[in-house]
Amino acid sequence: MTVTETTTWMPGYSLPQRDYVDQEIFDLDIERVFAGSWLLVGSVAELPQPGAVLTWTVGRDSVVVTRDPDGSLHAHHNVCRHRGSRLRPDGGGSERVLVCPYHQWTYGLDGSLRGAPHMGSDLPRDQLGLQPVHLRELAGLLFVCFAQTPPAFDDAVAAIGPQLGPHRLDHTKVAARLHYDVWANWKMLVENNRECYHCRANHPEFCQSNYDLGMSGDARTNTRYETTLAARRASWTAQGLAPIDVSFDAGGSFRVARLPLRDGYLTESLSGGLVAPVLGALDGADVGSLRVISLPNSWSHANADYAMTTRLTPVGPAATGVDVTFLVRDDAVEGTDYDLAELTQVWVATSEQDWLLCEQNHAGVASSGYLPGPLSPITEGSVQAFHAWYARAVSQPRGSASTVGYAESVDPAGVGLVESVGRAGLDGRCGGAVDRGDRHVDAARRQERRSDG
Ligand code: FES
Ligand SMILES: [Fe+2]
Repeated sequence: MTVTETTTWMPGYSLPQRDYVDQEIFDLDIERVFAGSWLLVGSVAELPQPGAVLTWTVGRDSVVVTRDPDGSLHAHHNVCRHRGSRLRPDGGGSERVLVCPYHQWTYGLDGSLRGAPHMGSDLPRDQLGLQPVHLRELAGLLFVCFAQTPPAFDDAVAAIGPQLGPHRLDHTKVAARLHYDVWANWKMLVENNRECYHCRANHPEFCQSNYDLGMSGDARTNTRYETTLAARRASWTAQGLAPIDVSFDAGGSFRVARLPLRDGYLTESLSGGLVAPVLGALDGADVGSLRVISLPNSWSHANADYAMTTRLTPVGPAATGVDVTFLVRDDAVEGTDYDLAELTQVWVATSEQDWLLCEQNHAGVASSGYLPGPLSPITEGSVQAFHAWYARAVSQPRGSASTVGYAESVDPAGVGLVESVGRAGLDGRCGGAVDRGDRHVDAARRQERRSDG
């Protein structure tokens, strides 16, 4: 097929230029895809004790997740019930109550209105609590949905829960958290995560411990990988780890799969050895690497000794915020039980390599020379599946469950214009520090690291 125009999505090809660069499409992505999906907001390790607060903004919506004095988690819109001010900026923290900075209305961590100065005695306080946001915990990961009626989530809980559960992320702490501003459309970051076509040429650290096989939608295999997978699966089954792949089944939004690491590698480290104490209820280190992907905004790896979560925040057509968080057992002591540099080196290197690839991808796609190109039928099946999921999600009204069928040649967003690339500013969007190792890494610093070799 010859591609002569860029405005209609063709299955099996990269998306039309406007789907990556257009402000109008980006706005639809926020309103339909993000507002209508379950989104990874963080993990319970980021809210370790009563009073912990985590705020996150996606498009026009912002959520405050809190742990109340009884230990229960809550999620509410970050919107004061007086005249609507934001209550707090993005990031983590610890609060006794939530106080609106404007006129000091005060809310309990359960969202109830506790104080409203100079409002008279007739104020119906019980009707002026913060507006709830849907919140679900899944084996230590926290998901929110801004829609009035969220899509189904029980199938994700049923598939992921038993496999992630033994890693006991609910008994971990944040060892490090890195924030990146990536100058690329969020869909490019997802596409990049959905294939390992690029791994061998670009991820030397990742490829030390990982096969570049086993991705959903990747038809490649070899005898060595299959032999290793069969042997490890037998071991995982014997350990009660239920190695059952569920990969975007029936056009769904999640994947869970336990993949084998290369011989001699117990975790995703450079040495092959463990870099932190074995997590939770695991019997030993022979657990491979559990992958949990949740569209549209997260992927996580749970290893024997640490977990890494990646959360995407769409900021503009050409800008995505990324938070990479490293979790270790909650009683692990830095310097004694783990070394921060050793713990993070594979995923800092791999993540930063990916951000550069995505930024280069975006720059080319945004140029006048771009035409959608063919996806590999061998290695990029999962990219194609993501495009189908995206087309369906972006075609739904705000807040609809993304379970309706779609026509393959539809114009996903129904918008006909290609407009100039907008570069939304990211300044000030990075959340406050949540824990040890919290860092903001900008593009210049990443470039500096690369030139250091
Ligand atoms: S807007 Fe919050 S107290 Fe006035
Ligand atoms: Fe990558």
